[in-house]
Formats: sequence, C-alpha cells, structure tokens
Amino acid sequence: MHAPVPVIDNSKLIYILKYKRYLITAALPYANGPVHIGHLAGCYLPADIYSRYQRAQKRDIKFICGSDEHGVPITIRAMKEGITPQDVVDKYNKVIKDSFADMGISFDIFSRTSNQVHHDTSQAFFLKLYNDGLFEERESEQYYDEEKDIFLADRYIVGTCPNCSNPNAYGDQCEKCGSTLSPEQLINPRSALSNAPLVKKLTKHWYFPLNKYEPWLKEWITEGKKDEWKPNVYGQCKSWLDSGLQPRAMTRDSLWGVPVPLPNANGKVLYVWFDAPIGYISATKELTANWSDYWCGEDTKLVHFIGKDNIVFHCIIFPAMLKAHGGFVLPDNVPANEFLNIEGEKVSTSRNWAVWIDEYLKDFPDQQDALRYVLCANAPESKDNDFTWKDFQDRVNNELAAVLGNFVNRAFVLMHKLCGGRMPQFHAVAANEADRNLALEMKAAKERVEAAIEGYKFREGLAEVIDLARKGNKYLQDNAPWSLAKTPELQAANQARIDNCIHLCLQLTANLAILINPFLPFTAKKMCYMMKVVDRMLEWENAGKSDLLKTNYPLRAPEILFRKIEDAEVAAQVEKLHNNLAMAISASLNITTTTTPETPAPAADPALAAVADQKATITYEDFAKIDLRVGTIVKAEKVAKADKLLKLELDMGTEIRTVVSGIALDFTPDEIIGKQVTVVANLAPRKMKGIESNGMILMAQNKDGRLIFASPLETADNGAEVK
Ligand code: 2FM
Ligand code: ZN
Repeated sequence: MHAPVPVIDNSKLIYILKYKRYLITAALPYANGPVHIGHLAGCYLPADIYSRYQRAQKRDIKFICGSDEHGVPITIRAMKEGITPQDVVDKYNKVIKDSFADMGISFDIFSRTSNQVHHDTSQAFFLKLYNDGLFEERESEQYYDEEKDIFLADRYIVGTCPNCSNPNAYGDQCEKCGSTLSPEQLINPRSALSNAPLVKKLTKHWYFPLNKYEPWLKEWITEGKKDEWKPNVYGQCKSWLDSGLQPRAMTRDSLWGVPVPLPNANGKVLYVWFDAPIGYISATKELTANWSDYWCGEDTKLVHFIGKDNIVFHCIIFPAMLKAHGGFVLPDNVPANEFLNIEGEKVSTSRNWAVWIDEYLKDFPDQQDALRYVLCANAPESKDNDFTWKDFQDRVNNELAAVLGNFVNRAFVLMHKLCGGRMPQFHAVAANEADRNLALEMKAAKERVEAAIEGYKFREGLAEVIDLARKGNKYLQDNAPWSLAKTPELQAANQARIDNCIHLCLQLTANLAILINPFLPFTAKKMCYMMKVVDRMLEWENAGKSDLLKTNYPLRAPEILFRKIEDAEVAAQVEKLHNNLAMAISASLNITTTTTPETPAPAADPALAAVADQKATITYEDFAKIDLRVGTIVKAEKVAKADKLLKLELDMGTEIRTVVSGIALDFTPDEIIGKQVTVVANLAPRKMKGIESNGMILMAQNKDGRLIFASPLETADNGAEVK
C-alpha cells in the first residue's frame, strides 16, 4: 500500500493568475421606453450580482452600461410624438438611468451612444475595417416610403404573405403562418407608417463579410466554448453557424445615428447593431484613461450579460468585428438569460403588460431587495420563467422574511434579552458539536456561493445563502437559549452555553451579510448598521470566518429587514396589470385594432396602428354576441393621474352609463359633450383608476393616428341598436 498522494487543487490559483482584470458589460437598453422587471431579471440583476461579488473579491473590475440611442424605433417614436430623436433619448436615458440607480445596479458608468466619444470611437472602428479593405460595397434597391421620406426597415413594411395570403404580413415575418420573409416576397408591399404603397430606390451600403469569419468562429465557439457557455447560448450559436453566415450590411439610410465617416455618404449611418456594442468600448473610454488595459490586455476577462434576443450579436457578429479589427480582447463568456413572463403572459410593451421599475418603486418604496430577491430566486437562467405577484408575495413572506429576516431578528432580540445587549464571548470550554458544525457550515456555504456565482448560477448561489440562514434557525431552535434562561438561577448556570449560541448566531449574521451582499446590497448595509461594522467587513475574504464580530461591544436594536407583502397589495398589482392592458388597448386601438409588432417596434404606436391588421374571421354567431348601441355623451371629465383617460357619462336611452375611455389625448371634455357614439354595451365591467367602466365607445382612427367620431349624419335614438 502506498500512502495517498496529496492533491493540490490549482484550478483557483490558475484562474486568478489568468485574469488580472474583469470587464463586465450589460446590454445597452434602447432609450425608447422605461425598463421593466424582464430587463432586470434577464440581464442587469445577474450582471450586478456578478460585479458586486467581484468587487467584494477585490478584483479589478469595470462594470459598463449605457443607453442605446440609435436605431429605427427611436426615429419612429420621435416622428409619432412630433419631437426630435434627441428629445426621445434624452428623456428615456434619464428614466432608465434613475431606475437602475434606484434598484442598486452598480454600474461604474452608464453612458450613452449619442455621446461624442462614442461617435468618434465607432467611426474610427468602421474606418479601420474600411481602410483594411474589409467591407464589400453593394448597391441594391430598397423600399422607400415617399410620404414619410424614409427607407423602411423590414418590420415597417407590410403586405400580403405569399404563403398564406395574410394581408398584413410583415417584411420579416408572417405572424399568421409563421414563415420568415423578406420584403421582396410580400405581395403589394406598403408602409406600416403611412400605409402608402412603396417605391424602390437604389441605395449603397457597406457589408461586413461575416461568411469569411465563419471558419474562425466555428473553431472559437464549437471547440473553445462548448463546455463553458450556457447550453442555451451555445445552442443558438451552433444553429447560426450550422446554417451558414452571410455578409451583413453595416450601414443604413437614416438621418439619426452615427454618420458613416466616408465622403459621399450623406444620409447614411452605421447600423445600430454595429455601433451599439462598440458602445461598451466608448463607455470604458469615458470612464477611465486606462481603458485600453481593459480592452486590449490578454489578461482581461470580458463577460457580456444579455438577454437571449441579443445572443447572435454578442456571440457571433461583435466577436467577428473585434477579430477583424484586431487588438481587442474577445468575450470569455456571454451568460444570456431567457425571458421572464408575467402572470403567464409574455411581456408586451405595446399592450402595457409589464411591471415597470419606476412604477414598482412608487408602489413599494424601499423594497428594492424584495424585488431583487424574487427576480434572482426565479431567474430565467435556463428557460423562460413566470413572474406572478402571488409568487412574489410567497417568496418575500415565506423565504426572505420568514427565514433570513427572522433569523437575524431572533439573534438580535435574544442578544439584547439574554446577553445585556452586547456581543457575547465564545467560551471554548462550553463548545459542543453543534457549535463546531455551524462554524463548518459557514465555511462550506462560502465555497458553494462562490462556485455558483463564478459559474453564473445566481439562483443556486442565492438559495445557498438562504439555506445557511435556515441552518441558523435550526441551530437556534435546537439550542433554545431561551429555555436555558427560564429563571435567573438557570440563566446564571447556563450563561456560557447561552453566550456561545448567541455569539455564533451573530457571527453567522455577519457571514450572511457578506454572502447576501452581492444579491441584496440594501439588506447587507442594514445588517452592517445593526452590527456596527464598516462596509469593509463585507469583503469576500471575510466570509467563512467565525470571529468577525468583536466581543463585548454593544450592538444596535434590530431593524425589520423585510416587511410582509399583504394580500391586498397583490390584488392591487394584478388589477393594475389588467387595467394597464385595458387602457393600452382602449387608447391605441380605439378602435382600429392591430397586432403591433413586439420587436423592434416601439410601444403602442398609433402610427403603426394606422395599418389595422384584419382580425381572424368570426362567425355571425360570434358577432351577434356583441350588443352595439347608440349613446349620447352627456358628461365628460378627466381622470386624475391618467393622461389618456376621460370619464364619460352616456345617455343610453334607458339609463346613464359610466364609461372610461382612452381618448383624452385627442379630445377635451367640453368638445365632445352632445356627440353620439356607438357603444359596446355588453362588455364586462372593468375598473380603471378605481372607476368602473361599463362598456366601450367605438371611434375611428385616421392614418395620422388621430381619433375621430365617425358619426351618422342623422341623430339616432339613444339606446338604438347598431346592426
Ligand atoms: O436589445 C436591446 O435592447 C439592444 N439595445 C441591446 C444592445 S446591446 C449592445 F450591443 F449594446
Ligand atoms: Zn403567412
């Protein structure tokens, strides 16, 4: 028999030696709307947890983000609102930046792609590829909307699907039969913006030869990243590579964007997916003069946090661009998450089916960590997941409050009650097996949380922290120091055991603060305050130790870390979602109906609604269920805190009805009194902003998005049926 050979685990050592710096990026959100919980869960929260953890490890990191301020949706939103694209991005850059800051997303910089440094950086990048002769110049005919004076992106072209004859297929996809299309395949293409027929115009663009990078990408990804990247990310890349890569136009015809830095390129800008990822580089330049250490050093670990719809851009196109340019580090990992649905439905900005961060913070002030907790515990790491308000309540009440909050509170209350409000000593002579095990658990938890975060398994890491708190509760229950102090005599006899138990529970509290800090930073701060320790205690190297808190000093009174979420709050949030949906439908489809494209179109865009999709055929029996009647508006007033809503009272012949309608942007209350409207009289009642609406009024929407009364020439009797 040989003695066992000692094995030295070098993996960690190698890992630390390999990377001197961390460059952590989170996808640049489009500055054309606020951010919702799907954004947080998909990308920004995991990126923040990872960055906070790396900072606690005292590693040299830069956490980069900013707003993506170019692209078609922004120009269209500006057109629709009658403001400039710069106004649109100025507004939403601030809204988004504030929401992230309020949620504790700890970017080192939140920049903008409309900044000069970004224009300079992306133009220089383009010119390098151009001067190296990499681009292919191609002329092609593309669809042009003469009414709006704009070349149209595929999504903004509609026409008849060649496969299923759907008259409202988009230029990139038919949503009825699901086929992928190009605008050329559409029959009678027309503009989704103006409904005008399109003309073709010759235009020149610069194509990046992605096909030439296919062999390199195949080797880099399929050989190098197969076991490192998450299966959902690797799988998407593999299928792109397997279907073959094509040259891709890196310029567009538009007046909004980074101008193409070439002579005779007026009206041409860089494609938004060319300039946006370069935004990571420009933001780093803006942040630090040492930006090139991060972007050009071999010893940088570059990690892109994104949502799954961005995978191809970050795993294939941007790496190929970086490779073509040369001199830049390539992403080590791209831990993309899947999508978060809400109450069983896909998030839809156009239908306002979303939980907006700024709204959440108004309804739940100071509850950032409750949301961070639920979004991480239920993160869509490997598949789409569902957020429900009931689950939010259950997790906050039964896990956060009942396990972590309860443990910390008990430890503090008992310390004040049984140890004179001071951190008690640990008496080695009175130590028992349970004490020793708890100390070991702290060490083991640190290792497990660390491995989970390093492996981008944030749900698992968070569950480990809660599990450690659960073990604390069990230890406290098993040792029951209160039962050792039932009488003063008993307490005097047992004080050493009582001290040991409370001492370890408080050391465990300090450990929990360190481990929870990347996930729930607001909570960790409160815990530090209660323990009277400075933020430095939260450094990762301190985790696993059972001597973090000095003995004999007075600690503060406990604060309630997590308040319970009430049933009424859950009900109110669910109602709010449904009201928002009803208002979005009522406001934007009042009453021309359309299925607004989910992406990349902006929210509830009347310009898009101008081209109403014909809905699926219904039977006469279906139609006969709708009770349409004439009513006269006898009273109208604005609804408080709702820009778009008017509260109407309608004379229906036999009764006066209240209907809430999303027409306030088009009409003042005074100008509609006395008008007759057609009313869907048997629509189920719905509450909007606390007012019960009993029906819906029908109006026509003109091409320019304006609502009008398409009223009969003659006056009808109130209550008359419309057939
Ligand atoms: O999907 C989006 O919201 C894009 N604006 C993400 C861009 S990420 C990067 F490339 F800038
Ligand atoms: Zn079709």
